Amino acid sequence: MKTPTLLLLGCGKMGGALAQGWMDSQHPPQLLILDRKLQKAPGNALIYRKIQEIPSDIKPDLIILAVKPAMAEEMITALKTHLGDKMAQSALLSVMAAKSCAQLAHMSGNEATPVIRTMPNTPASVGAGAIGMYFSPHVTEDQKLLAKKLMGQVGEVVIVPHEDDLRSVIAVSGSSPAYVFLLAELLERTGIELGLEQTVARKLARTMIYGAGKMLHDLDDDATTLRENVTSPNGTTAAALHVLMDEKNWPRTIRLASQEAVRRAKELDH
Ligand SMILES: NC(=O)c1ccc[n+]([C@@H]2O[C@H](COP(=O)([O-])OP(=O)(O)OC[C@H]3O[C@@H](n4cnc5c(N)ncnc54)[C@H](OP(=O)(O)O)[C@@H]3O)[C@@H](O)[C@H]2O)c1
Repeated sequence: MKTPTLLLLGCGKMGGALAQGWMDSQHPPQLLILDRKLQKAPGNALIYRKIQEIPSDIKPDLIILAVKPAMAEEMITALKTHLGDKMAQSALLSVMAAKSCAQLAHMSGNEATPVIRTMPNTPASVGAGAIGMYFSPHVTEDQKLLAKKLMGQVGEVVIVPHEDDLRSVIAVSGSSPAYVFLLAELLERTGIELGLEQTVARKLARTMIYGAGKMLHDLDDDATTLRENVTSPNGTTAAALHVLMDEKNWPRTIRLASQEAVRRAKELDH
């Protein structure tokens, strides 16, 4: 595969994580970044502050949208004016939580523009993202391969067959790192209430989450088996799980939280 040319629009938290992962890889792409405040480019990537500064003769294989969804239309329109017909040779790859393939293709002025939508999460910034990916019908096999390879450099890629599935991805892995961070906060607070030093409670909570995550990642056992393995009958864990697993507690709460995330994702699409 020849070295791909990528144009990254927005290099904040998510765009920055992607750019770093790509430039740290064995075969870095040719990367052009549009960002108004990025100070230092990863590797030998080039930074531009305004669309008009980007060389107008570039032919990017992928144009990556990593700005807030509200900025997308303005950016695509300005890029279309700047690159003209050359933009038609590129696929759009969006990491935005909102804006459908049809909306993005429409913004590009060509309903047949190939669009790849991905839903990464913040662990992508440490190379451990969980990434949902959907291809519009116009995406070629080469573009699919390139997108899977690039996103695979910052995490595990899962292809979903329907665009609507990306909303479920938001609920299961997109928003949920925050639930785990909340769990860390709550366990730390509980530890303090039970008399531990704050530094001790914090260390225990964070290390536990890392260790449990590593077991889920490294071992083949399913989560139910891992849970049962640490639950002795009538033991301390069984007592705690009796509270958490009551239908009105965690099962209901997680379901409600996920439904809210999906509802908000739908709202943001409009
Ligand atoms: N952060 C996450 O965990 C996460 C996870 C999954 C998906 N996403 C998606 O990723 C997208 C980006 O999120 P983010 O958290 O990375 O946002 P962010 O940190 O605000 O990054 C966007 C960057 O683009 C720059 N930018 C925006 N408009 C520009 C323009 N017209 N010209 C030049 N630079 C411009 C911003 O500069 P200014 O700050 O000056 O505007 C900022 O540096 C969102 O659509 C979000 O849905 C994020």
